[in-house]
Amino acid sequence: MEYQEWLKKKDLEYKEGILYYDNMDTQQLAKDYGTPLYIINEKLIRKRYNQLKVALNSEYKNNEIHYAVKANSNLAVLKILKSENASVDCSSVGEVYSCLKAGFPPDKIIYTGNMFTNEDLKFAVKNNVLINLDSISQLKRLVNIYDELGKKKNAISFRINPEFGAGHHSHTITAGKDIKFGILDDQVVEAYSQAKKYGFEKFGTHIHIGSGILDPSDYEKAINKYFTIIMNLADTLDITFEFIDFGGGLGIPYKPEQEPLNLRQYIQVIMNQFEKVIKREDFGGPTLKIEPGRFLVAESSIILTQINTIKDNGYKKFAGVDAGFNTLIRPTMYGSYHHIIPCKLTNGTTEQYDIAGPICESGDILGKARLLPTVHEQDYLAILDAGAYGFTMASVYNLRPRPPEILLINGKSYLIREGETFEDLFRLQKLPKHLKKV
Ligand SMILES: Cc1ncc(COP(=O)(O)O)c(C=O)c1O
Repeated sequence: MEYQEWLKKKDLEYKEGILYYDNMDTQQLAKDYGTPLYIINEKLIRKRYNQLKVALNSEYKNNEIHYAVKANSNLAVLKILKSENASVDCSSVGEVYSCLKAGFPPDKIIYTGNMFTNEDLKFAVKNNVLINLDSISQLKRLVNIYDELGKKKNAISFRINPEFGAGHHSHTITAGKDIKFGILDDQVVEAYSQAKKYGFEKFGTHIHIGSGILDPSDYEKAINKYFTIIMNLADTLDITFEFIDFGGGLGIPYKPEQEPLNLRQYIQVIMNQFEKVIKREDFGGPTLKIEPGRFLVAESSIILTQINTIKDNGYKKFAGVDAGFNTLIRPTMYGSYHHIIPCKLTNGTTEQYDIAGPICESGDILGKARLLPTVHEQDYLAILDAGAYGFTMASVYNLRPRPPEILLINGKSYLIREGETFEDLFRLQKLPKHLKKV
């Protein structure tokens, strides 16, 4: 894909040398709100959701997209997706809480935790949220909680580990025998059989094999195995499924030379197996669910950062900026690539820089050996595709307060989260009496 077109797909465009995001001048936004600054593009979130929905609808209407909240849990993002009629996937009680707060009805929430505590389970049962268990051992504890609260057992689901994982980094591959998630093939019948004996009447199944997948064929082996397991389960235990969930993992093109995920091919890989279910009358047409996080929100956010220092150490050049791995940890944690571009193009020369954050660690490099038009101290840079696992993984390491988030829509910007202050960082700390007077 041609570079300008690649940018345009992310709603980015240079006009007379100035970078615009959703038709808004990024330099002006940096000046108005300060840096670092997370900017979220509402239109793009809606666009990605609808692209996916239309593609799914064209194959099977009884589908549900559960947005994986861990990617970006800002209330405005949740409300945008709620208004599109999305459902949600939560990985913690905190995320369930945020979705209830955003107004999602409980029946639109799936809670796929791992290493659940009894308190986690209790919160979900009290709030009528469907739980996707991660271990057989959690089932008895869950049943005790239903009994303790005097609640009727509702639907139950298990996360199945189909052993074939995929992903952009070993930390994001979530299936395989040595991976902590889900239950393996040889425990699946036992899990559902116990659930049936305990009185659950409605069932779902779930897999999530990893994150950042751009090649649809990476899903094939896992989904084939998944369906062998599902068919065996249905035949052995005589149960049907309310839903079959394929998890998330849909990648986005972080690099200009990458093509976007081919949605039609991705859905075809699912349908190749799902059609078996449609054909069987005794299955009764379960809901097909997917749980994308990154695909819906990654491209709909950039981080603006200002260069404070150009350092030439005689060996290489560093462009020192005010965003670091406290603002965006993916490059440090996964070696991930985020495209970084100037907010204002200068004519002529280009130079190679390492884009370095202010955190007191050598690993605080946001981009290595990047060829940029020559940049100067005080210039602004945009770090692209920061909407997924950006703010949600941000920290206050080195006591740097987390930056504000703004939302762009219809030519206007709205502050949707204030930047933290130093006082915010100390708000919850308490000193014992003997240290107060020191
Ligand atoms: C259970 C589950 N579902 C969905 C997702 C979303 O993944 P992605 O953002 O890659 O689509 C994750 C991510 O870790 C997950 O653990």
